[in-house]
Amino acid sequence: MNTASAPATDESSLSARETVKALCAYVRPHRWAVALGLLCALAGAAGGLLQPLATKTLVDRLATGDTITGILIALTALVLLGTAIEAFGAYALERTAESARLSTEPTARRTGTVPRQRAAVTGPASVRFEDVSFRYRPGLPYIHQQVSFEVPGTGMTAFVGPSGAGKSTVFALIERFYEATGGRVLVDGKDVQDWSLSELRSAIGYAEQDAPVLAGTLRENLVFAAPGATDDDIRDVLARTKLDTLVERLPHGLDTPVGHRGSKLSGGERQRIAIARALLRRPRLLLLDEATSQLDAVNELTLRDVIAEVARETTVLVVAHRLSTVTGADRIVVMEAGRVRSVGTHEELTAQDRLYAQLAAPQFLTSSR
Ligand SMILES: Nc1ncnc2c1ncn2[C@@H]1O[C@H](COP(=O)(O)OP(=O)(O)OP(=O)(O)O)[C@@H](O)[C@H]1O
Ligand SMILES: [Mg+2]
Repeated sequence: MNTASAPATDESSLSARETVKALCAYVRPHRWAVALGLLCALAGAAGGLLQPLATKTLVDRLATGDTITGILIALTALVLLGTAIEAFGAYALERTAESARLSTEPTARRTGTVPRQRAAVTGPASVRFEDVSFRYRPGLPYIHQQVSFEVPGTGMTAFVGPSGAGKSTVFALIERFYEATGGRVLVDGKDVQDWSLSELRSAIGYAEQDAPVLAGTLRENLVFAAPGATDDDIRDVLARTKLDTLVERLPHGLDTPVGHRGSKLSGGERQRIAIARALLRRPRLLLLDEATSQLDAVNELTLRDVIAEVARETTVLVVAHRLSTVTGADRIVVMEAGRVRSVGTHEELTAQDRLYAQLAAPQFLTSSR
């Protein structure tokens, strides 16, 4: 997928520069009072410091009016300083109230395990698109036009369609990399715009089309998005993605380097590592953009089993490029030129949708059957 250079930013991460700018904006109307107050305070302080050094007695000073002038200056300074402090205080209060309104980042549990969902929200997530239209930028053509579909909080849903139909873009909108131009995208019945970005993202695991496996060890590749994962967590996920036998074969197990971009691994293993990495974060919704490259028969069928197994506990959405994936799907959404053309099972669609029947022919969807 075009892992979109995500333009959306978390509202909770105001930069220091923005903070200083906001502070300046608040103080600007009071700037003369603040400056004068500071000047008078300095003058008063200097007068106070120098007074003991002066030769005149206090009585002399009172008689000549010097001390009264000094007292007046000091009072003025106090009043103006008060104004400045009030301005800063009001600003501080405003910022405190503002930060109290901001959503908080999900925090890792201190038990040493990976971050989990909040207790109130558990189980597989549901997804709904309601008349979604979308274009990447004003002036560009619409990529989605009145896209509607519903995915209940269970099972596996496959998205199928010609290249450029807008399948990966569906995922980009669910993850809120981009905002729908029209209509609504809902996760768990709630508009993604109303989710805190960090909460939304922590509910979603995403294994992208060209799953990046980096130089480094297998362990490093697995845990970089879930640094709190324990050995038990890793063992569990390796078993679910059928990578445990691979780890047994590797000379240093999990601590074996996998080569530049995972060159010592097969395409199927890389894809499963991407799934394992996503599962370590215990998502309630797994988005899997299948790699278009050919897998050998063993890897393809293993991948199918892994997806079916994960779909038992997590809602799984797959952009499918393999026949073995679509035949195992609970429902298939067929997309064409930014529209949903039909929804059904493999058998229903093969009988009813000519485009799907063509797409599902082995020469289009890759198949090792
Ligand atoms: N960041 C972007 N900016 C502008 N246009 C984009 C961007 N990403 C994708 N597109 C365009 O949006 C359309 C749909 O892209 P998308 O990646 O959703 O297609 P797809 O159905 O996943 O295709 P494929 O099967 O080839 O992966 C394409 O025409 C693509 O060129
Ligand atoms: Mg794609």
